[in-house]
Amino acid sequence: MAPPLFSRFSRKTRRIGMLTAGGDCPGLNAVIRAVVKTAVLTYGWEVVGIKDGFEGLIGDDASTVALTTDSVQGILALGGTILGAASRTNPFLYTRRQQGNRILLDVTPRVLERIQELQLDAVVVIGGDGTMRIARELHDMGAPLVGVPKTIDNDVEGTDVSFGFDTAVGVATEAIDRLRTTAESHHRAMIVEVMGRHSGWIALHSGVAGGADVVLIPELPFDVEVIYRRLQRCFAEVRRSAIVVVAEGAYPVGGQTVFRNRAASQDKRQLGGIGEYLAELLHARQEQEPAGAAESDYDIRVTVLGHVQRGGTPSNTDRVLATRFGAAAVRLVAHGKLGRMVALRGETLIDLPLARVARAPRTVPMDCDLIQTAREMDISLG
Ligand code: F6P
Repeated sequence: MAPPLFSRFSRKTRRIGMLTAGGDCPGLNAVIRAVVKTAVLTYGWEVVGIKDGFEGLIGDDASTVALTTDSVQGILALGGTILGAASRTNPFLYTRRQQGNRILLDVTPRVLERIQELQLDAVVVIGGDGTMRIARELHDMGAPLVGVPKTIDNDVEGTDVSFGFDTAVGVATEAIDRLRTTAESHHRAMIVEVMGRHSGWIALHSGVAGGADVVLIPELPFDVEVIYRRLQRCFAEVRRSAIVVVAEGAYPVGGQTVFRNRAASQDKRQLGGIGEYLAELLHARQEQEPAGAAESDYDIRVTVLGHVQRGGTPSNTDRVLATRFGAAAVRLVAHGKLGRMVALRGETLIDLPLARVARAPRTVPMDCDLIQTAREMDISLG
C-alpha cells in the first residue's frame, strides 16, 4: 500500500472533509450530523463539507462549506443530503465537453491536489459500491480516506446492512399494502416495480413484508410461464387478486435487463420498465387462453415506485445506523485507520480495508433463510 501523502500539516487542529457521492438515500444527513458532532465535540476538529460528491474535489473554493454543529442542527430527520450528490462523477473517468465532443479525463491529480489545498487530514467518503471502488483506488494513490456505506439497494459488499435500505423497504411495503386493497376491490393483478439494480433485497424484503404472491429479483431470471401459473392460482381463489413485486434489475430467462433509454451510452442508461414489460408478456400469455376463462381474464396494472423509495425522512432504524456509522468513521480517523470502511456485522460495528469491500455488489444468496422463507410462504420467485 502507498504511504499516506497527507499525514501532517503544520497546525494543531485536525481538519477533515466529508462528501456524499453516488445516488442519495435517506440517512445521509444523519451521517453528516454524526460526523460533525463527533469530530467537533469529541475531538475538537474542523469539518469541511465537500459539495456534490467528487465534483467538489475537482472544483474550486465555491465547492466546499465549513460545517459546524450549528450548520447540522435539525437535519437528522431530513431526507437527501445537505452537501448535494452527483451519481455519475468518477475522477478516473471524468466527462468534459470539448468543442462539442464528450471526452473522458483522469482528474485524480486534481483530487489529490485539492485535498492538500484544503489541508484535509482525512476525507470521509459516504457512498455505495461504485464510490467505495473509487475511494479504494484514490486511497492506493495516497489519499487519506475512510468509507461509509450507503444505499437503499443494500448491496455494498462487507456490510450486512447499509442505511437507507430500511426506509426504502418501508416505502415499498406501504405501497404494496395500499395496492393490495385496490387489487382486491377490482380483482386485478398489480405489478410493483421497486429499485434494485444488481440485487433483490428491497423486492424480497418488501415482498415478504407485504405478503406478495410473486417476487422477482435480478439474481434469479424468471420464467413467465411460472408466474402466469401462479397468478392463475391467485385468480381461482376467493380473493381473485395478486401482487407481483419486481426489482428493476430482474429479467426473464434468456432475456435482458430492461432500460428506459436503451439507446443512451452505457454510462447514461437508466434501469426501468421491467414492470411494463412483464405486463406485456403476461397479456400475451392471457391471449392464448380460450375467451371467458375466469382465472386468466384479469386486468394487470403496473406501479413504478422509482425515486419515491430514495426520498423523504429516514426511518428510526436508518437514523440510528447512519449515526453509528458517522461516529465510527470519525473514530477510524482518530485512530489513524485510513483506507477502511465502517460496516455492520450482525449487531456489531466493524471496519474493513476498502480493498476488501468494493469488489462486487452484495447480492441475495440463493441459499439464504429469506429465500427459503419466501418459498415457504408460497411466494413464487418466478
Ligand atoms: O443504487 C441505488 C439506485 O437506487 C438503484 O436501485 C437505481 O437503479 C439507481 O440508484 C438510480 O440512480 P439514478 O437516480 O442516478 O438514476
